[in-house]
Amino acid sequence: MKNKFSYMLAPIESMTDSCFRTICRGADLTFTEKVNIEALAKNNEFALEKIKLYDNTPCQIQLLGQKEEPLKKFLANFTPENGFKGFNLNLGCPDPAVVSKGLGCAMMKRVSKINRLVHIIKDHNHNVSVKMRLGLNQHEKEKKVYLNLINGVDADFFIVHARHGKQNYSEKADLSVIKECIATGKNIIANGDITTKSDIEKLRDCAGIMIGRAAITNPLIFAELKGIKTPPINEIINEYLELAKKRNAPQKYQNNILRRIQQN
Ligand SMILES: Cc1cc2nc3c(=O)[nH]c(=O)nc-3n(C[C@H](O)[C@H](O)[C@H](O)COP(=O)(O)O)c2cc1C
Repeated sequence: MKNKFSYMLAPIESMTDSCFRTICRGADLTFTEKVNIEALAKNNEFALEKIKLYDNTPCQIQLLGQKEEPLKKFLANFTPENGFKGFNLNLGCPDPAVVSKGLGCAMMKRVSKINRLVHIIKDHNHNVSVKMRLGLNQHEKEKKVYLNLINGVDADFFIVHARHGKQNYSEKADLSVIKECIATGKNIIANGDITTKSDIEKLRDCAGIMIGRAAITNPLIFAELKGIKTPPINEIINEYLELAKKRNAPQKYQNNILRRIQQN
């Protein structure tokens, strides 16, 4: 993690399933969309399907929740498969339905609780990362709760989506905070409105960058940014459709991707 600058595909609900993750050439790490820990502990069929890894595409499984017992129960029965690279804790979801339960970015101030979850996962010898916003709201951003979290939690790396929980995507991500995040000495992955080589040049002191929406419109963006030769996008779309058929991907996911992906 320390030496190699990593290019990561962001988790995007109802879009970045295993089929989409597979076609993102050049992405060093991908993530499942968020999956509820309690649903996993109860062996909920839909939750288990979301974490199924069909091939060797490097992937961390993103967990949403705060309860320790269901996490322990799930981990006790979990067997890593294919491209599994560890777990990621979702501390960034701003959805009111999630925040009202004290989850997602409403959890960011609970540093000891987060660290306990991290250590439960580490005790099972899995890697663990955190994905966060800058706080629940502007006030928490001003109080720099993101730095408290980074300083107080023993995760392998921290993905910082540079918005607070009350900001929507029409407001520009504030990547100026990344410098002080890096100054903690932890591994920081920058996220939010990163699309070009010049965006990345400004973030070279990070351990890597993460790209979300721009990768949905162009899944070859990672390869292009790295200067890797890629097949034409139409071939990649055909590969996606074949995988979706083979893996029985929900039609909703396919529609979401086909509506956004840019064809030549
Ligand atoms: C429709 C949608 C769904 C998302 N779902 C998730 C999710 O399940 N887990 C998560 O951590 N972030 C989720 N995100 C946030 C993205 O991972 C990412 O942090 C955000 O899009 C900013 O990156 P970008 O500017 O490169 O798109 C979602 C974003 C969008 C637009």
